[in-house]
Amino acid sequence: MNYQPLKYIYRSSGIDGAHTLLLLHGTGGDEHDLLSLADRFGPGVNILSLRGNVSEGGMPRFFRRLGMGIFDEEDLVFRTHELMAFVKQLSEKEQFDPAKIIALGYSNGANIAGSALLLYPGVFAGAILYRPMQPFRAPSGGKTPEARPVFMSNGLHDLTIDPERARDYVALLRTYGYDTSYHELNTGHQLTMEDIDLSVDWYRQHFSHAAL
Ligand code: MLT
Repeated sequence: MNYQPLKYIYRSSGIDGAHTLLLLHGTGGDEHDLLSLADRFGPGVNILSLRGNVSEGGMPRFFRRLGMGIFDEEDLVFRTHELMAFVKQLSEKEQFDPAKIIALGYSNGANIAGSALLLYPGVFAGAILYRPMQPFRAPSGGKTPEARPVFMSNGLHDLTIDPERARDYVALLRTYGYDTSYHELNTGHQLTMEDIDLSVDWYRQHFSHAAL
């Protein structure tokens, strides 16, 4: 199967050498969903927001699933390569630095970001994963060449994510060499202001040289 382009929105910060936040929506969302959240990270970062190429009954997703929380791993691998190739191409067209991408994904979007962390160790400068699940049952792969920071937050009352398995996923990312900050919040699957505030603080801490 050939790679298809993804629908996207790109907003340049107008600052040379700026980082780029790569926004990846949840199931049923689109490239508009996370734009107002991204504003919380300040004007000093470029924004690239994608829409997943898979449709589940009309709901956009980044890869197919076989059931709730059961992923079509073959499709996930293909879609991850498709997305990464598209982002690389866009970096040339839109003139942003592909070495300075911080992925920011919610739910399904966090899961394809996690897949890229495992399949392309070290490709992102950092990643923010809200409500993620471990994307592969038995991942195999390398280690990041340098410890890259990862922010992860889950809800203790989220019926779709088992807290034990989420902790195993944190341990796995650490084994891959990711410097992972993990937060368990007193909430469910929906994003809260606490997720956003914690992730903005994390961003300032790790990318303080980035204009805010
Ligand atoms: C979702 O609703 O999107 C799931 O919780 C995560 C996924 O299917 O990737």
